[in-house]
Amino acid sequence: MKIHQILFSPTGGTRRVSEILCQGMGKESVVTDLCVKTADIQLPNINKDDLAVISMPVFAGRVPALAVERLRMVKPNGAKCVVVAVFGNRAYDDALLEIQDVTSEMGFRVIAAVGAVAEHSIIRRYGNGRPDAVDEQTLRRFGAEILGKAEGSVCTLPAIPGNRPYKKGGKVPHPKGRRGCNRCGVCARQCPTDAIPFSDPKKVDASKCISCMRCVSACPTGARSIGAVMTFLATQGLKKVCATRKENELYL
Ligand SMILES: Cc1cc2nc3c(=O)[nH]c(=O)nc-3n(C[C@H](O)[C@H](O)[C@H](O)COP(=O)(O)O)c2cc1C
Ligand code: SF4
Ligand code: SF4
Repeated sequence: MKIHQILFSPTGGTRRVSEILCQGMGKESVVTDLCVKTADIQLPNINKDDLAVISMPVFAGRVPALAVERLRMVKPNGAKCVVVAVFGNRAYDDALLEIQDVTSEMGFRVIAAVGAVAEHSIIRRYGNGRPDAVDEQTLRRFGAEILGKAEGSVCTLPAIPGNRPYKKGGKVPHPKGRRGCNRCGVCARQCPTDAIPFSDPKKVDASKCISCMRCVSACPTGARSIGAVMTFLATQGLKKVCATRKENELYL
């Protein structure tokens, strides 16, 4: 059995959760990164006996549409999979159910699901330092349990919370290069949707930007942001709902 990590991780939290889960399985795994430029996507060859760990970030309670679109390019060949929704200590709302629905529809057999906390990629003080040592222990142990189930014949799963129809995703501002931008172009190279023009990397093409914050976390000078006003409003808006520590939720 080969383990495939299939992930969309703009700022690294989703990737970290996926890695920890797979470490718990104690086996080598191969990574398919769907958060790259379209031309750089390399799809995996999955066999029926393999296990795919499919990890997506939560954006406004949903899975980013681009991540779903790219995930649908993968051929499952009837393999088993684990679905993982990584959220920034607010809530995963309908995202985990959405990944379960999409992967089942594609032809994966979903045997486990995880709602996991990572640092909030817009307001990083929320979920700061997550996944931490406690999360690592929980996720590693669960990884081992998942592997045990994957090696057996049972494929049933407890009901995953969420609503159908799913909630409507909200709008998040698009980051721009601001004071301190030296036009190095790192953000343009990292943007998975080519929303940043190489010729003028301070700008952003709003019709392409998915507000994933990859450019913000990649900017070496800290010059890329959604702006002070939006940051303040988002911080205030999330204060109540993000204040208390949320735990990982595990379904097997
Ligand atoms: C546009 C956007 C919307 C988000 N919406 C939510 C949300 O609804 N609930 C939540 O808990 N976290 C939310 N987050 C935080 C991310 O889910 C979280 O930081 C996740 O770890 C991001 O994955 P990444 O580190 O792989 O980029 C949002 C982040 C972004 C950029
Ligand atoms: S990475 Fe930062 S400094 Fe470099 S071009 Fe982009 S916004 Fe400017
Ligand atoms: S410009 Fe938009 S899509 Fe591109 S990396 Fe930045 S936030 Fe993501």
